[in-house]
Amino acid sequence: KSTYTIAVLPGDGIGPEIVAEAVKVLNFVAERTGITLEIKYGRIGGIAIDTDGVPLPEETVATCKAADAVLLGAVGGPKWDQNPGHLRPETGLLGIRKQLGLFANVRPATMHPTLVAASSLKPEVVSGVDLVVVRELTGGIYFGEKKRYTTEDGREAAVDQCIYHEDEIERILRVAFELARKRQKRVVSVDKANVLESSRLWRKVAERIGAEYPDVELSHQLVDSCAMQLVRAPKQFDVIVTENMFGDILSDQAAMLTGSIGMLASASLADGSFGLYEPVHGSAPDIAGQGIANPLATILSAAMMLRLSLGLDEAANAVEGAVWAVLEAGHRTGDIAEDRSNAIGTIKMGELVLAELEKQLAAK
Ligand code: NAD
Ligand code: IPM
Ligand code: MN
Repeated sequence: KSTYTIAVLPGDGIGPEIVAEAVKVLNFVAERTGITLEIKYGRIGGIAIDTDGVPLPEETVATCKAADAVLLGAVGGPKWDQNPGHLRPETGLLGIRKQLGLFANVRPATMHPTLVAASSLKPEVVSGVDLVVVRELTGGIYFGEKKRYTTEDGREAAVDQCIYHEDEIERILRVAFELARKRQKRVVSVDKANVLESSRLWRKVAERIGAEYPDVELSHQLVDSCAMQLVRAPKQFDVIVTENMFGDILSDQAAMLTGSIGMLASASLADGSFGLYEPVHGSAPDIAGQGIANPLATILSAAMMLRLSLGLDEAANAVEGAVWAVLEAGHRTGDIAEDRSNAIGTIKMGELVLAELEKQLAAK
């Protein structure tokens, strides 16, 4: 196959700024490797609420379903924060994940030697960190029944139900074990089995699936302890697998091991090769429109797309190589700069990656 359709959903805040740089990278790869990319734009989040009246228009879902892969920026912002649940930008993101069956969220946190100083933790703690958080993405407390009501004695109350079915746990555990097989063969399953019934089911299923992978070491950690271990001794981790909300929290924490949330890429995968690729960070309303956001998490997400959905391993390696080369040359956006007065902007960072990519692809 040499023609691919990519749905691009820039979203809100810094979303359009960072996605623009990643699209340039994808187009450049296409031009140099002789493949054809058809880019189809769609609306999601706040921009869709403003334009279409809903955070996830049907048209956007259809565009994504007709594509080979999806690239997403970020959604959300203060403008929509007081909206009711069904009219929140984040609801659009949850909707697209559910409707596309994207149950496996893969979030690698690798400390590149050149970014050790950007981390808020001690160099000896973070240098050499290379872990992946595998987060269940379409179940748990995010998708259980939600309810707001008033009790008989007049108190306001709210419910978020956390539900997991064994097949949902099984399939995400398999993703983690398969991934671990290609890495250091160690899986830490994270839960709260000392308190939560859904976690006790999780642990039971993890044990059962783990028995099918005798070559992979399985251990269990309680989520509070895991949060502590992540900053105490992050190098102990290879693959962390966990439920939706724990994975959300632990992956932001893992991001800081690598220097900045502006660096962390992610893939949200369905069965087969289809996937949605997005940075782990959000729409960063505090810096939106200033041209200073770090586009590297989104560019690295595009690299994951090239590898996992398009099967273009060499191109993916070249993009990642270009990113590391630019960082090694000392170029920094504000979030990873030691000296912010030398920081470069979003577009400049994109240009430097393209120039480096040109060299990487020419060397092939
Ligand atoms: P955030 O990740 O947007 O920002 C947290 C901090 O990190 C901010 O100081 C921001 O400036 C900084 N930051 C984030 N990305 C950066 C980048 N690429 N370059 C430089 N700095 C960066 O988290 P938040 O402030 O808690 O959330 C803001 C909005 O984003 C909320 O509406 C939230 O719901 C939404 N959100 C969306 C996604 C998503 O679309 N996947 C993820 C997380 C949060
Ligand atoms: C993420 C975000 C989302 C999540 C929000 C915006 C719905 O924080 O992708 O990590 O909680 O999954
Ligand atoms: Mn998050």
